[in-house]
Amino acid sequence: MILSEVQIRDYNEHGYLYIENVFNEIEVNHMLSEMHKVISENCPRRILEKNGFVRSFFSPEWNSELFSDVIKLERLVLPSKQLIGSEIYKHQTKLNTKHALLGDWWEWHQDYIFWKKEDGMREPQVITVMIYLNDVNEFNGPLLLIPGSHKQGIIDLLPNTPDENDNKEWFSEYHQSTDYMSSLTADLKYTLKDHTLVNMIEKNGIHSIKGPAGSVIFFHGNLFHASSNNLSPWHRHTFLITYNSIKNKLPDDMPNPRPDFISSRDFSAIESIRELNL
Ligand code: SIN
Ligand code: MN
Repeated sequence: MILSEVQIRDYNEHGYLYIENVFNEIEVNHMLSEMHKVISENCPRRILEKNGFVRSFFSPEWNSELFSDVIKLERLVLPSKQLIGSEIYKHQTKLNTKHALLGDWWEWHQDYIFWKKEDGMREPQVITVMIYLNDVNEFNGPLLLIPGSHKQGIIDLLPNTPDENDNKEWFSEYHQSTDYMSSLTADLKYTLKDHTLVNMIEKNGIHSIKGPAGSVIFFHGNLFHASSNNLSPWHRHTFLITYNSIKNKLPDDMPNPRPDFISSRDFSAIESIRELNL
């Protein structure tokens, strides 16, 4: 899959590109059943919701040939290379499960601020590909995006501080002693402040990305995005791959680097493959 000039212009203008039915039903079903196998493993790569259900599972490709192949697929890699403008490597991958009736929200945030502050990534030459593994409608937590917000660069640089009414002791323990965890749970470390959001939404509005399983969203590291909790009886499971430019690889002198499963240290350029071996 090669993007047209119009699609590239669209991405640069809005900060994202949505393409329907990039994966067919057979491929989606394979990914879903593999997802269920992968997330059953109890390990540090598995992040739970407050209610104990699985929220995310990092680097599923470590024990899945299928997800390892998905990351290398031409139909994701070639467009990402076009949009980033260079060869790419995989920076981060995760399954985000948003279970029917139980899946929690993702607060409004930008991704690149985490990669800059926590991993030392120098430039936002980075893109995330989100693959919908279920049909997504207005009820099961579609990805919400503010078009054009990537042009702002990163803002609201300070980590969250407790509200007046919060238990401050608990807050500091959560955000310091659990270090990398505070970038992964429903209480994100860097979220967008209300006044920033209000201004941006008044100017640019919100897009809610709904569509069939197998559809894909390519979005810029600085794009403001969020999703609400899943109040429906329909799951909204997704697989997300973050590709970074090989010219933008991480410095090797970062103090306390995050675990490999969150922030990959394998900077080799991806060699794409044509199809999944099902
Ligand atoms: C993310 O921001 O990483 C994912 C958001 C979502 O799963 O809706
Ligand atoms: Mn995000």
